[in-house]
Amino acid sequence: MANEFIQTYVEKKTGIIQLDRPQAANALNRQMVDEIVEQMERFDRDDSIRVIVVKGNEKAFAAGADIDEMMDDSPLSLELTNPFAVWDRMMLIKKPVIAAVNGFALGGGFELALHCDLIVAAENASFGFPEVTLGVMPGAGGTQFLTKAMGRAKALEWIWLGQQMSAREALHYGVINRVVAPEMVKEETMRLAHQLAGQAPVAVRLIKEAVDEAVDTPLEDGLKLERKNFYLAFASQDQKEGMKAFTEKRSPSFKGV
Ligand code: CAA
Repeated sequence: MANEFIQTYVEKKTGIIQLDRPQAANALNRQMVDEIVEQMERFDRDDSIRVIVVKGNEKAFAAGADIDEMMDDSPLSLELTNPFAVWDRMMLIKKPVIAAVNGFALGGGFELALHCDLIVAAENASFGFPEVTLGVMPGAGGTQFLTKAMGRAKALEWIWLGQQMSAREALHYGVINRVVAPEMVKEETMRLAHQLAGQAPVAVRLIKEAVDEAVDTPLEDGLKLERKNFYLAFASQDQKEGMKAFTEKRSPSFKGV
């Protein structure tokens, strides 16, 4: 079925998902989240794609979950429709996912960016969780992701006050990776994507799994997983090629197998 709220295209081994609901500041209705996740999964399965980028437009990455859609929800309707289950599938994506953020990344929009592995933002981007001003709280992982990224005290302050943080503040607290001029966001994101696309794909995915493990598990379990993935990397032809290229003093040619 054709997508209604996103556009997708491919540039240099990078699959790009462009959020496309400009009349509502890219507010994420449930169909839009389904489309985003299904497209991420399609790119994840596509051997010709090495990196996935999610981007908005100049004014907004995404201004949150669609308030009109959820205002009449009840605890039971939420329990029955289970709207956040689809978000969990984003965490199963194995390839690197980069968010390119111009303008607002609020509420569910910030959560979408936080589900990505890396965030490149414009100097005028702003991040925040305004849910408290609507009488609710983040529901798509915001309390967990932000706390893990910036620590309890600052996360609590931002979420309690519903304040927006600038891209520079977000960078300072380690929430995002890079800040550039607004007109450079796409270029910088593609530069990063291109660099990642040139790395050995098997190693890249094993590293993602091992780093994610470090966030959530005791050191001992994380070390075991890291060791297992280190051994697994030696099953790839790219490991042979990478090490051979080093000894032959040339650039490696990685195939992703
Ligand atoms: N849901 C539905 N519609 C939204 C929306 C949202 N989250 N955010 C913006 N829109 C709509 C506006 O209603 C407006 O529509 P109309 O033209 O039909 O009136 C259109 O997008 C443009 O928005 P504004 O006119 O408000 O534009 P602005 O430049 O003055 O302000 C903004 C931009 C600061 C992003 C402002 O729109 C805003 O505060 N939006 C709401 C942000 C928010 O509260 N997000 C959290 C949602 S709850 C959530 O996300 C829960 C969760 O964890 C999953």
